[in-house]
Amino acid sequence: MFDEIANRYDFLNHFLSCGRDIAWRRACCRELQALHPGKRLLDLCGGTGDFAATYERLGGKPDVAVLGDFSYGMLKGAAGKKMSAVPVQLDAMKTPFADETFDVILNGFGMRNLPDAKTGLRESARVLSAGGYLQVLEFFSPRGLFNKFFYKVLAPLFIPVLGAVFSKRDAYEYLVNSVLRFLPVDEFVALAEKNGFELVHVKPCFFGVAFRVLLRRA
Ligand SMILES: C[S@@+](CC[C@H](N)C(=O)[O-])C[C@H]1O[C@@H](n2cnc3c(N)ncnc32)[C@H](O)[C@@H]1O
Repeated sequence: MFDEIANRYDFLNHFLSCGRDIAWRRACCRELQALHPGKRLLDLCGGTGDFAATYERLGGKPDVAVLGDFSYGMLKGAAGKKMSAVPVQLDAMKTPFADETFDVILNGFGMRNLPDAKTGLRESARVLSAGGYLQVLEFFSPRGLFNKFFYKVLAPLFIPVLGAVFSKRDAYEYLVNSVLRFLPVDEFVALAEKNGFELVHVKPCFFGVAFRVLLRRA
């Protein structure tokens, strides 16, 4: 599915979020850079590399940077972006890296797509060094009234239609359904705390349409 939407992925991300995804990624990177030099960086479920590219554009200078994703099409979409991250085709549930290989992991809109968030979190904890950071930017299952209305009423009306016009309808139906199927943010944080992480903070983006969840490897 991601291979099929790769060529319009960046455009639709920016279009559907009215460019807010750019600001959210920047906020994540600034928060991380204030806390850690991030010399060994993994952009996991990194897709077309927007997160890793933002990290470097804002002054991050990793010695080693990896863009990891299982979709070859999405990784190809990173070609031409200004960043040092090396694309690696991998499964985020079982990466090819040794324990404690990285000190910063970015995960933008990837956790929700994994078959099992617990295994994904454990694998990220394994490849992070102690005191390293996992920055998750994600759409979580809605809790409040506004977000329930947005994801259950508004989003199913306009996201698949715009997906059909510019890309693939199925993929954008999947996007909405995957949010509704995913964990609410508080349950995700509780799961992370049971699987190797301490919570640094949770910050809502645009009234909780998305969240920035910053976790530290315990
Ligand atoms: C919604 S896109 C997010 C891309 C990018 N991180 C961003 O911020 O725009 C989700 C990405 O997760 C990848 N993905 C899903 N399951 C994965 C897995 N098990 N292992 C690695 N990548 C996976 C998909 O191929 C896709 O590129």
